[in-house]
Parts: sequence; C-alpha cells; structure tokens
Amino acid sequence: SSVSVFAPATVANVVCGFDVLGFAVNAPGDEVVMRVTNKPGITISKITGDDGRLPMDPAKNTVSVSVKHYLESIGRTDLGLDIELHKKMPIGSGLGSSSASTVAGLFAAKTLLGDTSDPIHQLPFAMKGEEMACGHGHADNVAPALFGGFVLIRSYEPLDVVRLPHPKDLYCAIVFPDVDVPTREARQIIRTKINMKDAVTQWGNIAGLVSGLFMNDIDLIGRSMQDVLVEPVRSMLIPDFYKMRDMAMELGAVSFGISGSGPSVFAFTRDEATAHAITQKLQQHLTGIKIGSNGYVSPI
Ligand code: HSE
Repeated sequence: SSVSVFAPATVANVVCGFDVLGFAVNAPGDEVVMRVTNKPGITISKITGDDGRLPMDPAKNTVSVSVKHYLESIGRTDLGLDIELHKKMPIGSGLGSSSASTVAGLFAAKTLLGDTSDPIHQLPFAMKGEEMACGHGHADNVAPALFGGFVLIRSYEPLDVVRLPHPKDLYCAIVFPDVDVPTREARQIIRTKINMKDAVTQWGNIAGLVSGLFMNDIDLIGRSMQDVLVEPVRSMLIPDFYKMRDMAMELGAVSFGISGSGPSVFAFTRDEATAHAITQKLQQHLTGIKIGSNGYVSPI
C-alpha cells in the first residue's frame, strides 16, 4: 500500500514571537509518497525539486531519520518503508522547507500504520528532524506544518502547544530574496542577553498579536508585529530589508517582517489583491537583488 501526503510551508516567529509562534500557508508545500516494502528498514528512492542538495542516504536525511525515530518509539522496526520526496519550495529559504518534508513523512508513516492517535504525538519526532537540520529543535515550523493555521509553543519543557484562531480575511504575501541564510548561522548571530526594556516591549507585542488573533482585530495584529530583539540583527543578512518593508507598507500591508530565520520576507494583508501587488512590486523593483522565482500569496 502507499500514501501521498502534502505538508505546507510555514512562517516561524511571526515577527515578535521568536521560537514560540508560527503559522502555515496553504501553498507552497512538499509532498511525500510513501510505500510499504517487504524488506525491513527505510529507503529513499527519489527526491525531486532539490537540485541534488538533499542526501539520499536514509541515515542523513531528516525525513527518514524522523520516521525511523517514530518507528522505534512504537516498536515497528520490522517494517519496510520507501520514501519519495517532492520538494516544492526552496531549501534554506526561511519557509520551513525541512519541516514541511519531515511532517509530510511522519504523517505518511502514521497513516500507513493505521495510527489514529492525535498528530501531536508526531511533534517530538519532527523536532528531532529540526535539530538535525539546523542544530536546534525548535517547533515553530513543525507544529504549524502539522496542524495548519497559527500555533503557539507555550513551553518547550514540558512541550505545550496551543492552536490559535485567526481572522478569516488574513492574507500573506511571501517573497524569497535568493541569498543563502542558513538557519544555523542566523541563530548564531542573535544576542543571548537582552535588556528588560526590550523584553517588556517584546512581550507586550506577543500578547497584542495573540489578542488580535482572538479578537479578529487586524489593526492590533499589525501594530503588535514589531521585533526589537531579533529583526535588528537578522535584517542585516537580507538585502534591502527596510526598503522592501517601506514598499510593502506603502502598498497597504498590515505588517512586514522576516519569515523564520530568513531570507524570505512576508507581509500580512487584508485581501488577496494587495498581497499580489506586494509580491509583484518587490519582484519588479528590487533589480539589484536576485529574487527567487517565488512570490507566494496565500490565505492562511
Ligand atoms: N524560530 C526559528 C528561528 C525558526 O528563528 O531561528 C527557523 O525557521
């Protein structure tokens, strides 16, 4: 038997919620096709869309390693599984590329095994995949990839994940400037000590954003999406970050910021047309920067 599973791109941090907030978009996303084989162990028979960048060795690929951890946890190492991975988004783009693949793989394995338990049980295995991909097992991409919508990681130890509501008419434009920003390095440059004054600003904003999600208050969401801790440092890795922000805000964006650890940037808008206008304008006018061929517009 075989299954095909899609898992979406995700925007981690949502500007002010470093490592604790993330949301999924409806597209793009990765696809895993998984088959039961008659030889115990996990194989990878095909990877497309990665320009040959991802390892085919099941001991080194985050998808197979996460699935292996899952099979071990339920005592089913007797099983043989073959993985086909179809990447539909750039690697290292800040769109939760590795998370989408890992979550699709774990969900495929769960489905093939007839495991109907809550998907939350897959989260620790997906986080192991993140740790392998960038040295840190954060959950703000894998959790929204698994559940969809907005997710809060209230606590890592113990793991406490809260699914949040969001306004129906919230759209997201994503633009991928084609520069390499590995998450591992983007994590190394951020400050490890922060001022109380900055902390107060930040938790005010996080609380404001979450309140806005519950209250369907898009203005409150917009004015809460400011980051005094991480963005000032990471924006230096993204060419013309502030110029792109000005352009997006002028066109009517509700907010603008870095997606995950970058280099992708995203803007919230109240309608699809504005989101389209933003991706188009950024792609057309930032001639000094190679923009990835991807301007995504998604209802959330
Ligand atoms: N919260 C993580 C970070 C997300 O900002 O490093 C990485 O995609």
